Amino acid sequence: MTGQTFLVTGGCGFIGSHLADALAAAGHRVRVLDDLSTGTRAHLPAAARLLEADVADPAAAAAALEGVDGCFHLAAVASVERGRREWRATHRTNQSGTVTLLEAIARGPRPIPFVYASSAAVYGDAAALPVVETAAKSPLSAYGVDKLGSEMHAAVAARLHAIPTVGLRFFNVYGPRQDPRSPYSGVVSIFLDRLPRGEPVTLFGDGGQTRDFIHVADVVAVLAAAMSATLAAARARATAGAEVFNVCTGTAVSVRALAQTIADLAGRVPELRSAPARDGDIRHSLGSPAALRAAFALPPPRSLREGLAATLAASGRG
Ligand SMILES: NC(=O)c1ccc[n+]([C@@H]2O[C@H](COP(=O)([O-])OP(=O)(O)OC[C@H]3O[C@@H](n4cnc5c(N)ncnc54)[C@H](O)[C@@H]3O)[C@@H](O)[C@H]2O)c1
Repeated sequence: MTGQTFLVTGGCGFIGSHLADALAAAGHRVRVLDDLSTGTRAHLPAAARLLEADVADPAAAAAALEGVDGCFHLAAVASVERGRREWRATHRTNQSGTVTLLEAIARGPRPIPFVYASSAAVYGDAAALPVVETAAKSPLSAYGVDKLGSEMHAAVAARLHAIPTVGLRFFNVYGPRQDPRSPYSGVVSIFLDRLPRGEPVTLFGDGGQTRDFIHVADVVAVLAAAMSATLAAARARATAGAEVFNVCTGTAVSVRALAQTIADLAGRVPELRSAPARDGDIRHSLGSPAALRAAFALPPPRSLREGLAATLAASGRG
């Protein structure tokens, strides 16, 4: 797919800006809808057109979608903690934002493909690992409920409005441009910021909690593959589907091992401090990428060591 026009909501954020770069580099026209609440214009490729607006504003959504070949929906308040403190406001973005876009597509001239970010948070504390897509959904946060609600609305969009949708349940995504100073930032960006400078990091509980970390470039490859496949299915006049996939590596890494790997790469001995385990922290998160890999032709994902080294190099600290 080249020379097409794509809308990327949340395109000024961490994952969205890497996607915008990749789409522009592949010769596509990129339109971005972002309210700049956490994202920054500085991350956008020069050729991208920014509409600074709220994704839950119907007029803005309709204007942003005009004439596009496909929509990547990544805009969200990507924080469980903010969902706890600003319940209604995050619900407006995280679930009503999805419905606003789907309704605008349904009212538009044709049912363009809709590829959107869901989250491993839909599973809650999964009973069996690695978690597969059909496992029970028991989200533990407003954020997870809104992501699950978005998936259900996407299924309605396919069934009632013939809009082909693909939901991608991202696990722990890391890579350049994650802001370590944000109060909501993930463990990788905090450790990458502190350990190479010889600063201590805090492990909650025993540090044995595990996560499935995936590099942002591998996530971008999935987003692009999902859109290509959906556009091809639409050209073949296939019935609109509402698929959902885990986006993960299938490798569990403890937070303690993560700290050690980053310190090794930076040539440091990590200084690890202990703090009590946090309420509501999931002990183990591990996804099965089997369905994703069966559906799309994807390059093998980067190993954590490789991805961390690339991220350190991009920050000038490698
Ligand atoms: N980063 C991860 O590990 C991870 C894991 C699971 C799911 N996700 C999902 O992936 C998507 C992208 O996450 P990210 O890490 O790049 O987050 P991010 O915060 O860097 O990007 C989100 C973008 O959305 C924009 N935005 C927020 N509210 C908006 C609104 N009302 N209208 C328009 N724009 C708005 C922000 O300004 C920002 O640019 C989100 O949907 C997130 O929930 C991320």
